[in-house]
Amino acid sequence: MSVGERDPFTGHMTTGHEWNGITELNTPVPRVVILSLIITAALGLVWTVLMPSWPFVTSYFPGVLGIDQRNVVANSVAEAQAERSPWMSSIEDQDFSAILSNPELMRIVRENGRTLFGDNCAACHGHDAKGQRGFPNIAQSPMLWGDSPEAILQTITVGINSTDPNTRVSQMLAFGRDGTLTPPQISQVTSYVQSLSATGSAAPLDKDQVEQGKAVFAANCVACHGKDAKGLTDMGAPNLTDSYWIYGGERQDMYGSIYHGRQGHMPNWGARLSPAAIKILTLYVLDMRKQAVGAGS
Ligand code: HEC
Ligand code: HEC
Repeated sequence: MSVGERDPFTGHMTTGHEWNGITELNTPVPRVVILSLIITAALGLVWTVLMPSWPFVTSYFPGVLGIDQRNVVANSVAEAQAERSPWMSSIEDQDFSAILSNPELMRIVRENGRTLFGDNCAACHGHDAKGQRGFPNIAQSPMLWGDSPEAILQTITVGINSTDPNTRVSQMLAFGRDGTLTPPQISQVTSYVQSLSATGSAAPLDKDQVEQGKAVFAANCVACHGKDAKGLTDMGAPNLTDSYWIYGGERQDMYGSIYHGRQGHMPNWGARLSPAAIKILTLYVLDMRKQAVGAGS
């Protein structure tokens, strides 16, 4: 078949291409497609006249409507800031005790603190801040690094064993793995630690073991946990006489802590949150602790 022949069934011309007796029809592009292309192109052109579009050498055509998403965003940010600024500056400027005794500011702290805590902290510390294995209960337990507002703010800002140059640094040594203590000595000191707290195994402790463990403790542990084992905030070492355990209060948990060591990681939030947000979180944590004490007594 050659060019210009008409297909007898459809009435269309053929292209002249033929493969094994099958010929190709030369059907035109449907009119509706052409029409919609023209309309789209026309609308596109009109849009470039209405909205910011064509680049010039040093600026750009702003569009006859004068709509600029940059201005829209800038305006809404400014609006949100204006709405927040009165209480925001109060929180930024006033000291902790003044804010804590101001019911109106504390209402704002609780509202914003809950969101900030849920977004940033709850994954590790839990929504109620009571922690989980490996992550301390910061709503109730004595703070590793002290529970003054300033100490808590500092911990949240620089983190613990974090990448911040001023990070708080702490490490429970791996007495077993590093061979500092023998397994029997670790067993003894574990019994001693168990004897100090109300929690732990219900099985009665061997008196001799506890006595020997006491000596092991005095020789190896007091530098960080203190003579009375109540912890030293300078070292971030926990109180071993209370009922709060970061890594579990069963005998095998304690044995594991002493054998393998522990080194918790708390991110440095100063790199991610504003100083005001960190202050709100500090107040939020303090407020939870105050309520926990109130409810407990
Ligand atoms: C990736 C997990 C993780 C996240 C997220 C996290 N923390 Fe922590 N945080 C930890 C760990 C682990 C420790 C304890 C470190 C240790 O064992 O020495 C800790 C300790 C703390 C302490 C010190 C507790 C003490 O006893 O001194 C405070 C306060 C704290 N976190 C607050 C926060 C706040 C507020 C946030 C949210 C902005 C947050 N954390 C988010 C893991 C986390
Ligand atoms: C160099 C300081 C240091 C020394 C020495 C040290 N500890 Fe610790 N210990 C820590 C720190 C810091 C933690 C908390 C680690 C963490 O939270 O990641 C800890 C945690 C623990 C825990 C787990 C507490 C919990 O809440 O789960 C136990 C148990 C413990 N130490 C017992 C001992 C015993 C027993 C010795 C002596 C054989 C000892 N430690 C010596 C610093 C020390």
